[in-house]
Amino acid sequence: MPISIDKMSFDVLISTEQIQERVRELGERISQDYEGLNPILMVVLNGGFVFASDLMRAIRIPCEVDFIKISSYGDELHTSGEVKMKKDYDSLVGGRHLIVVEDIVDSGLSVSFLKQKFSMQAPASVRFATLLHKPENSSLGFDLDYVGFPIGPEFVIGYGLDYKQNWRNLPAIYVRVDGREGGKRS
Ligand code: IMP
Ligand code: MG
Repeated sequence: MPISIDKMSFDVLISTEQIQERVRELGERISQDYEGLNPILMVVLNGGFVFASDLMRAIRIPCEVDFIKISSYGDELHTSGEVKMKKDYDSLVGGRHLIVVEDIVDSGLSVSFLKQKFSMQAPASVRFATLLHKPENSSLGFDLDYVGFPIGPEFVIGYGLDYKQNWRNLPAIYVRVDGREGGKRS
């Protein structure tokens, strides 16, 4: 059933069941890859918290969690091209294995910023887990290690992702179906 928000129309792109199944698979892979390594899940707020809370419970090895808040979306539908630190993490990350948990990688600006920021703290390793990736929009110089779903450039909401800070509570991923706005600013 499509939902209407600010005269835009959104419909389900990825169902709750599909998300749950994929999160279980990613949790299993992380459990195997990090056996004995006690990783820190570094959750990128705000959007990453829903994915992270499910992912963490799909991981069957000891792991810690910490949070960092950054923002890159200048207005509601487009990336601003600039990353701002809003809240720093607390952990001592030197020598630790970090898994940065994002809701979505769009332009790639945020994850590139975080990769650079964390590498200055000499962690044992840094990898990226993201529920969604818009490969058409991002030109990354490195691989994303755990990707839930590659998607098109259209704007999406739900399961942590917002429109004007709302709709993060939708239990599925919804995509805008009445226009191609919301991709990279051209
Ligand atoms: P990037 O720095 O361009 O990769 O953007 C990453 C951040 O922008 C994500 O962590 C989201 O918070 C936000 N974002 C990117 N695409 C969307 C979208 O389609 N809907 C909602 N938020 C988005
Ligand atoms: Mg985000």
